[in-house]
Amino acid sequence: MRVLITGGAGFIGSHTADRLIESGHQVRILDSLEQPVHTAGKPAHLNPAAEFVLGDVTCRDDWTSSLEGIDAVIHLAAYQDYLPDFSHFFRVNAVGTALLYEIIVEGNLPIRKVVVASSQAVYGEGKHRCPDGRIVYPAIRPEARLRAGLFEIPCPDGEGETTWELTDESGSNPENQYALSKHAQEQIAIRLGRRYEIPTVALRYSIVQGARQSFTNAYSGACRVFCLSLHFGRDPVIYEDGEQVRDFVNIHDVVDANLLVLEDARADYEIFNVGGGRPYTVNEFAHIAGDAFGLKIEPCPSGLYRFGDTRHICSDIKKLKALGWQPRRSATDSVAEYVAWLRSQDDLEDISAYAQRTMKEMDVVRAVRD
Ligand SMILES: NC(=O)c1ccc[n+]([C@@H]2O[C@H](COP(=O)([O-])OP(=O)(O)OC[C@H]3O[C@@H](n4cnc5c(N)ncnc54)[C@H](O)[C@@H]3O)[C@@H](O)[C@H]2O)c1
Repeated sequence: MRVLITGGAGFIGSHTADRLIESGHQVRILDSLEQPVHTAGKPAHLNPAAEFVLGDVTCRDDWTSSLEGIDAVIHLAAYQDYLPDFSHFFRVNAVGTALLYEIIVEGNLPIRKVVVASSQAVYGEGKHRCPDGRIVYPAIRPEARLRAGLFEIPCPDGEGETTWELTDESGSNPENQYALSKHAQEQIAIRLGRRYEIPTVALRYSIVQGARQSFTNAYSGACRVFCLSLHFGRDPVIYEDGEQVRDFVNIHDVVDANLLVLEDARADYEIFNVGGGRPYTVNEFAHIAGDAFGLKIEPCPSGLYRFGDTRHICSDIKKLKALGWQPRRSATDSVAEYVAWLRSQDDLEDISAYAQRTMKEMDVVRAVRD
């Protein structure tokens, strides 16, 4: 198959390109080498067997020329950040995806499959249960509670606090500009795909971890931040009380999922969670990161929280498992891969202190008041 990977110079895209090439497919990459993800330009790990096209998914001509002779598209290019340039999220993530379908339909292009990267972020706080047994999908937590150091989610219209449950694909509750734009993107893809018989699959990835994650991508989470801190001899900053639950999935398991749905017609027009299948608390993850550096760390809450952060989220992965996929690597494997890669870098700068300062200046990171 001739496969176009948008965002193929990035973390998930470059690993997906490697595996496709290994399996005998031809790969073309369309990537704009965005800043600050690619501070050093075209990454050295790009597979030389992939054809590289410098271009933008918001540009009709770049899409049109990149789609020439292509059988399938893995659409990974996206704008991911916490910045308040709301319209840019929709321009890249939603309008860029609509353009893809517009061009396929206009040109009656023989595209056999489109795989679109969605995100666990579309769930917001995800599925929870109230003490009275009701299932709820809570809204963003009230700021006053966070400021008071009350991190658990109050039961909406009821007494007490909720407990989290695994979140399946049936719902969505996007709360921020990134999540809203990814939700719009997957809905555009699935619905236009179905309407125009362009087999399409949307994958809602949890937090993906492994080598090649940009050191400067503000959106790449705990693995980057904790490992960079430890590498430069600082303790990781723990937001809230560190007991929040996260769902980490290894990059190679994500690539397995991408390849499975690319080839398997049972996945067409469906949305799937791609998660690690096991919850980790942030404190637990800090220990895993510490162990990878041979350090026994005592995670200590910083007295800070991040505005808009999810309290607990872990995806239900039954649906994709039913097609024969399953996560085979642990968070410990992912951290080991990341640390090995980090140690192989020259001129690594300690940008985590800078990132922390920027988030404070932008009022994303806030302090609990006693
Ligand atoms: N990494 C994760 O934890 C995670 C979790 C959920 C969803 N996702 C989704 O997976 C996809 C890939 O993420 P990633 O972690 O590999 O990110 P990444 O930043 O490493 O890669 C994204 C690539 O897209 C390119 N790009 C950005 N805007 C573009 C544009 N307008 N035109 C062309 N190229 C553009 C960038 O240059 C970069 O190479 C994204 O759609 C992201 O939303 C990632």
